[in-house]
Amino acid sequence: MSEVHSKGTSLTELEKAAGEKMSSFARGYYSHPGEGGQTYRDNCQAFKRYRLIPRNLRDVNIRDTSVTVLGSRLDLPVAIAPTAVHKVAHPDAEAATAKGAASMNTLMALSSWSSQSLEQVAEAAPRGVRWFYMLFYRDRGRMKRLLERAERAGYAAIVLTVDQPLFPDSIRRKPASFPVQFSLPNVWIDDDQPGPLGSMEHGAGLAKIAKEAATWEDVKWIKNNTRLPVVLKGILSAEDARIAVDLGVAGIYVSNHGGRQQDGVPATIDVLPDIVGAVGGEAEVYLDGGVRTGTDVLKALALGARCVFIGRPALWGLALNGAEGVEEVLQVLKHELSIAMARAGCAKISDIEPSLVVHESYYL
Ligand code: FNR
Repeated sequence: MSEVHSKGTSLTELEKAAGEKMSSFARGYYSHPGEGGQTYRDNCQAFKRYRLIPRNLRDVNIRDTSVTVLGSRLDLPVAIAPTAVHKVAHPDAEAATAKGAASMNTLMALSSWSSQSLEQVAEAAPRGVRWFYMLFYRDRGRMKRLLERAERAGYAAIVLTVDQPLFPDSIRRKPASFPVQFSLPNVWIDDDQPGPLGSMEHGAGLAKIAKEAATWEDVKWIKNNTRLPVVLKGILSAEDARIAVDLGVAGIYVSNHGGRQQDGVPATIDVLPDIVGAVGGEAEVYLDGGVRTGTDVLKALALGARCVFIGRPALWGLALNGAEGVEEVLQVLKHELSIAMARAGCAKISDIEPSLVVHESYYL
């Protein structure tokens, strides 16, 4: 492990440093909060509305932050969320993110919109744990072949992002609006290889092959056509979580896309307890959105998340220092979580219980 990890660094400082290093395009693309930005802001602020009630005098001299996620043992309950085109942040792109995650022995979810192929990312960090976020396609043959590629390349689960019934504006925009040349090797597959972006109107091309507004029928089909566990990302309602569990989905990933889809939806931490209740232990539950400190991680775990994911913070690390920057971000969160666990009286992840957290409204 590199020696860059200063224990005093916080993600706020890393965000600031990354902001100074990134191009103005990258800054805008990564921070873009969606219309209004209410949900984006609320994701972070909502964590502060939960207070911790620590337990004292327990033996916390040795702390273990490891956790098991869909059968994979991770050294910390913080994983990397799928985010698009890492080449905008760093020329080494997703391969570097995968190396950073693997060096901390945690999980990376690779986006379909990655600037390197899923095989290339797997080869960059062969021992890393990876999930693949797959787009819904019109042609099921295409989906089947992509599922098989993910299986062959050793991905451990398929993530279906269900909070994006319309393609993002950035995809619809003309390629010229991206200052960095990149291709999307997981999207343009088989006979549709259009080459690097910039060579075609990719929005129109995408509409021909990918499927907007997927339904539960598509989830069922994917579940029946892969041997990998399926995780649904973007669940915000207990009802949807229940339908998913009844379909045999292995993981419910509570997310509002970091506030980049529907503005005005709740902060993820606020809906987590109801979803955990509806799932009733029949699937694993994860969360992302606004996780920036070790105490945020502690609160999410206390409220029932098995692990949390970070989106933008990993991109800040990548922009700052490639694989080592990603590693540093994870190291900061691991260190802060370990301190927060000690102060809360938790020596291991299973000691983190719901009674550790109370919403501020309790005191009103
Ligand atoms: C995303 N996100 C996202 N989600 C997804 O399922 N597929 C994707 O391709 C992307 N792409 C993407 C690009 C960028 C630039 C950002 C910032 C986000 C959403 C992502 O997985 C995650 O839900 C949020 O980023 C979590 O919020 P934080 O950690 O960024 O606050």
